Amino acid sequence: MNTLSQEKINEIRNSVNIVDVISSYIPLTPRGKNYFGVCPFHDDNNPSMSVSPSRQIYKCFSCGATGTVFKFIMDYENISFLEAVKKVAEIGGVSVNIGKISKKKTHTELHQIYDLSLKFYINNLNTQNGKEAREYLKSRKINDDIIKEFQIGLSLKHNTLSQILTKKFKPDEVLKSGLVGKNDRGYYDLFYDRIMFPLYDLDGNPVAYSGRIYNKQDNSKYFNTRETEIFKKGELIYNYHRAKEIARRKNQVIVMEGFMDVIRAYTIDIKNVIAMMGTAVTDTQAHLIKRMAKDIILCFDGDEAGAKATMSCSNELIKLGVTPKIVRLEDNLDPDEYIQKYGKEAFQRKIDNPISVMDFKLSYLKTDKDLTSPTDQAKYISEIITELNKIDDDILKDLTIKKVCTEMNIDEDLIKKHLENKPKPKPKKVQIEIKTDKYDKAESALIYYMLKSPEVITMYNNKVTYIPNKEYRLLAREISSFYKNFGFINEADFIDYIECDEDLMNTITKINKQNTKENYTLEEIEDYIKVIRDYNVKEEIKRLTNKMKTLTDPLDKAKIAEEIVGLKKGV
Ligand code: UTP
Ligand code: MN
Repeated sequence: MNTLSQEKINEIRNSVNIVDVISSYIPLTPRGKNYFGVCPFHDDNNPSMSVSPSRQIYKCFSCGATGTVFKFIMDYENISFLEAVKKVAEIGGVSVNIGKISKKKTHTELHQIYDLSLKFYINNLNTQNGKEAREYLKSRKINDDIIKEFQIGLSLKHNTLSQILTKKFKPDEVLKSGLVGKNDRGYYDLFYDRIMFPLYDLDGNPVAYSGRIYNKQDNSKYFNTRETEIFKKGELIYNYHRAKEIARRKNQVIVMEGFMDVIRAYTIDIKNVIAMMGTAVTDTQAHLIKRMAKDIILCFDGDEAGAKATMSCSNELIKLGVTPKIVRLEDNLDPDEYIQKYGKEAFQRKIDNPISVMDFKLSYLKTDKDLTSPTDQAKYISEIITELNKIDDDILKDLTIKKVCTEMNIDEDLIKKHLENKPKPKPKKVQIEIKTDKYDKAESALIYYMLKSPEVITMYNNKVTYIPNKEYRLLAREISSFYKNFGFINEADFIDYIECDEDLMNTITKINKQNTKENYTLEEIEDYIKVIRDYNVKEEIKRLTNKMKTLTDPLDKAKIAEEIVGLKKGV
């Protein structure tokens, strides 16, 4: 929980109009009482998001996303609740002391260890012993500004970081950092004689290093910190915190393979760039990339490994309904080398002229085939069909089919026939799984109207003892307790009250998706309550029946049987 009072949060929310704020992100057009726009939280072209000036909430009729102005900004900019509150306070001109919340609350001892190690390594690079490393960086055309910006440092041959750290912090904690090891002679540094590139978490805290050799041959060019409590490779993206804002403004993000590529791009003033941590893109990373910008350009290394990585990263994004664009670099060059060899303009031209992901796949799938052989031809076409079935973009699909058919001299129907046979795979996250048996329906509808009316909350309080589904139960309890505390109910206030708690918000989203009718009748509410009660009775009967089976005393059995009969009458 934060230090801001509910009143203050309300004041901040009321200082702006949600319509104005959202229209600074997406175009809105008025229709009736509400405003409509294309929902930025799922892949869509229809204006399915409605923004209500009277209720000060937004709601997407397609994916179910809903919330107040805070929630919108949180999800759009991928920031925390309090950061969103701070932004809105600025827009609304409400003065509020939340300077300290912009930093993560969870600045743990491990973080402090990293902060100190960073100072230590940076300092090393500037010493006499850092001369050779500085020359190496110079030879790679990495100037002092870049060194400063990316906080590049150096671990020396004979390091003393382990001593410094174990003196200042709990040795157990220091060992957990991945910077220090221990043997019978004591603590020792795990990084030595490498140029240290700090890796940051999504908030920009240093949480790991990639150490590069610079003065000798070694099998491993880079040595990375192992995973720790604060460093999970699959969840991080290099340069995310620096690129986030500018990618959003440009509505374009460029994804590269290595962090050296990102650093090089900075030297030519391209800053909407990120890099994967040298591994296959995970689902988590794909979600983060998706949220950064609408235009996603993959610009991996020009070699075969880079093509393979492009393929797998594209597919991870396509699963989320995103169609990236692709840049391929000639002569096996990586972006770093390409920029140095051909310069800023040439590279910018590449970025401005990406190819479609399907064009990339067509040429990629050709590489290991002899297209004069009928076997390979058949294989090629069938692989293309598989790829076509993955994408949602109908225009791109059609263009690709035309291209392939001309190229292979086959009939379009041949491919189309195969496409029709397969159900169109829907992007994973967009489609919310909804189980709609009648119990689920009743529970969800009851809560939907609880959010709208004190009358329904009172009925819930008086007549419902237990909601079977746990997520609904928790939400209903929160609504009831909000009403008890404040004496009124209002969706916008309630959503802020729960501070956009992720689980509760997901449940609200689900409920909003299942229910759309504004008004209810008392009979309907009574009916929902009865369905819920019936379910509970049924469960109780089941429980008692099972219990009866375990009993041997006929008298005990009879007592329970009587209870069951009683319950059954009530149903
Ligand atoms: P690259 O081999 O493409 O590195 O690996 P690079 O960016 O060209 O580096 P330079 O130019 O030789 O200095 C891409 C990414 O894979 C990871 C790193 O994260 C790197 O940024 N990697 C690579 C390792 O972790 N270890 C290695 O030994 C090599
Ligand atoms: Mn390189």
